[in-house]
Amino acid sequence: MVRENAYAPYSNFKVGAAVQSESGRIFTGCNVENVAYPEGTCAEAGAIAAMIAAGEERVRAVYVIADSRTPVTPCGGCRQKLAEFCNADVVITMATTGGAEVEQTMADMLPGAFDRNQMDIG
Ligand code: THU
Repeated sequence: MVRENAYAPYSNFKVGAAVQSESGRIFTGCNVENVAYPEGTCAEAGAIAAMIAAGEERVRAVYVIADSRTPVTPCGGCRQKLAEFCNADVVITMATTGGAEVEQTMADMLPGAFDRNQMDIG
């Protein structure tokens, strides 16, 4: 679905992501690459941006899928992006188009995450 719309002419690795907000709504995203490679964005970032643009902030569940041999795992940067909006117990489901699925909690995915408690902003 959304994965098929990914723009990935450089890696040929199309990724789709969905986040379900606490209201139950689902927001999707795909990776959008760029000829200036570092300017590309991940599927997770797109899904988060869609949720924020719709006025929601807290995530209840995350799903990521790619046509990969093993379930696709969010990159380090996306783990930090997800941690901004996910409680520690939120389950992230990583999947392949072949039907394999692995689940991991946010806390297990980014142990020792940098968070707002380390700053004086509460
Ligand atoms: N990618 C994602 O969109 N999400 C992931 O979880 C892993 C990697 C994208 C970034 C890049 O466009 C391509 O996959 C290859 O790294």
